[in-house]
Order: sequence, then C-alpha cells, then structure tokens
Amino acid sequence: MSGTVTMEKVVNLAKRRGFTFQSSEIYGGLASCWDYGPIGVELKRNVKEAWWRDMVRRRSDIVGIDCAILMHPRVWEASGHIAGFTDPLVDCKKCKQRFRADKLGDVPCPEKPSKHPGECGGELTEARQFNLMFKTFMGPVEEDAAVVFMRPETAQGIFVNFLNVLNSSRQKVPFGIAQVGKSFRNEITPGNFLFRTREFEQMEMEFFVKPGDDERWFQYWLDERFNWYVNLGIKRERLRLRPHATDELAHYAKGCADVEYEFPFGWSELEGIANRTDFDLKQHAEYSGKDISYFDEESKERFVPYVIEPAAGADRATLAFLVDAYDEDEAEGETRAVLRFHPRIAPVKVAVLPLLRKDGQPEKAKQVLDILKEQWVVQYDQAGSIGRRYRRQDEIGTPFGITIDHQTMQDDTVTLRDRDSMQQERIPIERLVDELRRRIEI
Ligand code: GAP
Repeated sequence: MSGTVTMEKVVNLAKRRGFTFQSSEIYGGLASCWDYGPIGVELKRNVKEAWWRDMVRRRSDIVGIDCAILMHPRVWEASGHIAGFTDPLVDCKKCKQRFRADKLGDVPCPEKPSKHPGECGGELTEARQFNLMFKTFMGPVEEDAAVVFMRPETAQGIFVNFLNVLNSSRQKVPFGIAQVGKSFRNEITPGNFLFRTREFEQMEMEFFVKPGDDERWFQYWLDERFNWYVNLGIKRERLRLRPHATDELAHYAKGCADVEYEFPFGWSELEGIANRTDFDLKQHAEYSGKDISYFDEESKERFVPYVIEPAAGADRATLAFLVDAYDEDEAEGETRAVLRFHPRIAPVKVAVLPLLRKDGQPEKAKQVLDILKEQWVVQYDQAGSIGRRYRRQDEIGTPFGITIDHQTMQDDTVTLRDRDSMQQERIPIERLVDELRRRIEI
C-alpha cells in the first residue's frame, strides 16, 4: 500500500529518526538552516559518494578538485555575479516582509495565508535588485577593500583552475573537472525543507569540449544525468527533463535544461544542465590577463573550449531520494512508514539481529557485525520483538536484515531478509559479504 507522500510526513519522519534537525533548535532555530543527524549524514554522504564515483572514479575523462570557498573578489566581477546575480525584491508596506517580485504567486501572505503578497490589501514597493551573494571581510579590518564573498556556486573555482589542471594532469579536451562543496546564496524566499536553503552543497562538473562539438555533448550529459537518478532508484515517472525557454536562460548559457522531480509541492528543479559556451574562460582570461586557451595537438589548432555543465544540489538530491523512497504499509493494524531506498543510497545497509538474547546468539551476532562493519554502515539491535526490530529498520530504509537464530549456532548460517520482498534466505556466514556486495552494488 502506498499512502500519499506529504512534506509534513517526510519532515516528521526525518526528525524522529535522526535524518535532519533544525539548526540551533534549542535557541528557537535558524530559519531554513538544517543539520543532518546520524542517519541523515550517512544518506547525504551516500548521495555525494554515488555522484563522485559515477562522475569521477568510474571515468577516465573527468578529474576532481576541491577549491576554497573564499576566492579573489575579481572572480565574481569576471563571472558576472557582482553585476547580475540578483533577484527582484519587493517589500510589503503593511507587514514589512520581503518577497521575490517574480515569485509572488508561489508564496502565501504572512498575515492572510489564503492570499498571495499584494492581494491582502498591503501595498508593495517597486521592485529593487537584490544581490544574493553573502559578503564577509577578510582580516581584522571591516572596510570595502577587505570584502570577500562566500561562493554562490562551485563552478568558478573550476574555471579559474582550468590551466592548473590542464598543466598538471594528462587530460586532453574533451575532459571534465568535478567538484562537490558548499555554496551560499542569500535567497529571499528559502523554504520547502532542504529544497531551497541559504547554505547548501553542490555537485558540479564542467566538461570542456571543442567548439562545434558542444551540442552533441550537451545531449550526452542530458541523458547521462537523467539516467543517473533512474539508476539509483528514483521513479522515472516522477522525473522529467524541461528545456529552458530562451528568456529563461542565464546570461552565460546557449542552452539549458533542468532535470525536474515531482515533489509533493510540485515539479521543481533537481539539477540544471547548461551549455555555458566559452563565456567563463573568456571572461577570466580578460579579467586576469592570462591566456586561457587550449592547443589541440592533433588538429594543431588553438581554441577556447566550450563548457557543458551538469550542476546538481546534494541537499536537493537527498530530499528527492527521501521523498521518492517514502512509502507506507500496514502492519498489525497500524500504518507505518517504509523508506524504499536503493541499496547504494540507503544510510544503513544491514541490520544484525539476534533472535534471542541468550544461548550465545548476541555474541555470534556481534561477530557477524564486526565482519560487516569493515564494509558498510551496519546496526545491531536486540531490543524488542523481531517484527518490531524489522519495522524500526524499514523506517530508516535498511535494505537487508540478518537474523542469528538457533540454527546459526549449529551450522553457521543466518537468514538474510530483503526489505521490499520480505523474503528470507539462509546463507552461510562465510558467503555473507559476497552476497551482500552483489545486492548492494547493483
Ligand atoms: N553553476 C551553475 C549553478 O549554480 P544553479 O541552477 O543555480 O546553477 C545548481 O544551481 C543546483 O544547485 C540546482 O539545480 C540545485 O540543485 C542546487 N541549488 C541551487 N540553489 C540552491 C538552494 N538555495 N538551496 C539548495 N540547493 C540549491
């Protein structure tokens, strides 16, 4: 049985089972900032690791980088963020709240939630452009010359290191540079749990190609990135690719399409795939005075590569995996939540459960636990009935349960239970690691 997924159900489960907590909760919380708890941190790590493995480790044409969050302020002049990374903002003269002028229809009026801002009798000011970059000061003096920005995207760290990577690795165009890291945007209207926050993590890859080959590579990355989510278990019918209309394109993009997911609050962007042309490299060449170009040994041509950029959000993807996995079924007359994560994404892979708390079963279970701990995040649980213990694990999406019982003590076999089919199979302990690896690494 599958009940309707609502954000309320997902947020409640996330808090109850230690996926996420509101930041600084004991002080009343900090709006739209979230902390990941013991289960959530494993989930998000798995999302990032799956991305890194599929985008970097499994490929020979992409390398990784990890840049500082603080960069030279000229970077943001060159990239266009100082002049153009803005949202139009309006104030309501009645309630004194601020809203994005282009998204008034998406938010409720704080005083009359059945209406949108401006429809409640409150007068809105003229729209002003508001820059979304967070500013801070480098060093002890708070003066204009010391202003630095918290990066609003990880991409620029990649562009300014293009020559460093090219000169220190054996990569040839076409090749990519990938980065996972924090970005910051002073969003006017953050919200929807992890979907839009002011501090978030991005998973971005800039793929450098020969001009003229860009359309082909753009299509290639659209397919790759769409299939990445499907291969990790997201329901295909809740995903779609939405090409941007020409008037929606960012100033640097020749083409862009979003991978969208159908969240409980509607279809929304998970990831953007853009053809950024040679805009960024040319801007940084102009602003830094360095020759940022590529010499192609085969054709003996020099050119500034075009860039295809798949840019995903780690928190947004984590939310999509959580929402998509959410399911409900009936057990002993109660409705209970089950998270049907793909085994690669599941925060805890295996639960080890002794049937009885005696006859040497707990000791045997801990031996099995020690073997599996070397490979995966595993949990031991001996409290309560076996059915209740399975339910606790289903609720955090643990795909496999191992029971140590009377027979284990005689022949060193255990039962292996699959969360979704609920089928149990008897397996010798010596074959467990191979069998679990086969099932997890699919
Ligand atoms: N370098 C291109 C770039 O940053 P973007 O579409 O602005 O493009 C890429 O961001 C991805 O980063 C988005 O698809 C989304 O997953 C994530 N993201 C952007 N802003 C976010 C926010 N305020 N909160 C959470 N995730 C965000």
